[in-house]
Amino acid sequence: MVNGKSMVKFILNNKTIESDLPAGTTVLDFVRYHENLKGTKIGCREGDCGACTILVGEINDDSVKYRSMTSCLMPLANANGKHIVTVEGINRPNNELTEVQRVMVDESGTQCGFCTVGFVMSLTGFFLDETEKSCEMAISSIDGNICRCTGYKSIERAAKRVSGRWSAVSGQKNSENNLDVAIKKGIVPNYFSEIKEKLVQLKQETNRPLTTDHRPLFVGGGTDLYVQRPEELIYASAENLFDDADLRFIEETNEFIELGASVTVTDLLVSPVMQKLFPNLYKHLKLVSSTPIRNMATLAGNFVNASPIGDMTVWFLALNASIVFNNNREIPLSELYLGYKTLAKSENEFIKMIRFRKDVQHFNFEKVCKRTFLDIASVNTAISLRVSSPTVKEEFPNHDKARAHAWATDTVIVDAHVSAGGVAPIPLYLKKTSEFLRGKEISDETIFEANEIIQSEISPISDVRGSAEYKRLLLRQLFIGHFVELFDFKPRN
Ligand SMILES: Cc1cc2nc3c(=O)[nH]c(=O)nc-3n(C[C@H](O)[C@H](O)[C@H](O)COP(=O)(O)OP(=O)(O)OC[C@H]3O[C@@H](n4cnc5c(N)ncnc54)[C@H](O)[C@@H]3O)c2cc1C
Ligand code: FES
Ligand code: FES
Repeated sequence: MVNGKSMVKFILNNKTIESDLPAGTTVLDFVRYHENLKGTKIGCREGDCGACTILVGEINDDSVKYRSMTSCLMPLANANGKHIVTVEGINRPNNELTEVQRVMVDESGTQCGFCTVGFVMSLTGFFLDETEKSCEMAISSIDGNICRCTGYKSIERAAKRVSGRWSAVSGQKNSENNLDVAIKKGIVPNYFSEIKEKLVQLKQETNRPLTTDHRPLFVGGGTDLYVQRPEELIYASAENLFDDADLRFIEETNEFIELGASVTVTDLLVSPVMQKLFPNLYKHLKLVSSTPIRNMATLAGNFVNASPIGDMTVWFLALNASIVFNNNREIPLSELYLGYKTLAKSENEFIKMIRFRKDVQHFNFEKVCKRTFLDIASVNTAISLRVSSPTVKEEFPNHDKARAHAWATDTVIVDAHVSAGGVAPIPLYLKKTSEFLRGKEISDETIFEANEIIQSEISPISDVRGSAEYKRLLLRQLFIGHFVELFDFKPRN
């Protein structure tokens, strides 16, 4: 996929496509202007509205796994060897409606209709993806779609109704045969059953993403790059890392969890390894962007974009993670950031792997935005603590706050890593605060003294996300919130 001019081959709905268009062309422009499939709408072109949502299927563990994505931010290169599904690819003959489309109509979930295709694609994706088939997850699947006229209640009712019918047929648990059930129930057409074979064939014909002889621009999911430099990206000399199989793994060794650089936020969410280590994984990660963006957003993309409020960066800083480059140079993630968007990395280096110690004991992530979902943080923070007594608050089943408090004050912090975003030009590993916490009891004194150190480590500025004073106060509250959340600790003042 270099310099625009190399062959991209994929299945679009029920048709095999071979294109020598610039590989940086967005899938949205390709389907609308080159294939004349106008069902996919153009709204914001920034991943925010969901009007352009498509489904992307690829072979994974011997079956075709589908995820929703925003086609406005997806380069054609990232379609290579995959099944791309637009609304035309799920439509039934003779103007019959699919079950998802029918329920949207029945529940008055559509008015002008501009957003409707996006909602239908996201909800259809829900039936094919790896999430639990519960009502909550059905509603969560449309978290990246915006409607300006209907009001969301009718759309939520549609999501509830269609997921309720599914549960009645095949139970709530995500099952291996989602695709079979979806075909049987008319959620997707019969030709989907032949896609696996076609993709296997295609895989033999399509090579892994190529490298470039020019100064490379590394592209992951494109969710930052295509918002920042959409025109330039079309013709850019790019190295597409998203589909590099060597960068898409989550593995557990004796000491570490190792993750490929192109692991997406959704890959984390559905990973049994991560679920085991982080009981609040869903609660934390649903605060990050939206379903289609999480399906595209890679960890390395978040780190290298170097936003001071990057959620995954703050998350992994608190895990004291390190990053490994393609030349095997390994540095702590915290040492990647030299100044605002200035990185300790040469132009030719790309991140290959992320690694953190797996003896995570108590981890928490907090994020405050102007609105709860699909928004970037005003301030975010994460903490990882190891304490002398591994007993956790579940020991106090009746929320016996006094006992929990007594336990916590008897407990010494053995190891601590704290991070914060939105309070400096870079995402911050709070080194002095982390050092201070080690060896201390969990107490009012410790927490309030630690906050004094935090305040000396940060340098927030006033901007659209809040005044500098507000961000200082917010981080203080969120830091205390970590102890409330992890230990039911109730500070006295
Ligand atoms: C609607 C919307 C909502 C969002 N919400 C959030 C949010 O809530 N929280 C949040 O943190 N972010 C959010 N983002 C930002 C974005 O989704 C994340 O930063 C994402 O992780 C970027 O990953 P990517 O693979 O898409 O990066 P890309 O856009 O592909 O790349 C970003 C940068 O990383 C570089 N890069 C990519 N891979 C590598 C690699 N392996 N080695 C070296 N460099 C590499 C690229 O060259 C580029 O400089 C949002 C974006 C959108 C569009
Ligand atoms: S056009 Fe709005 S998300 Fe793509
Ligand atoms: S029905 Fe008009 S924007 Fe949703």
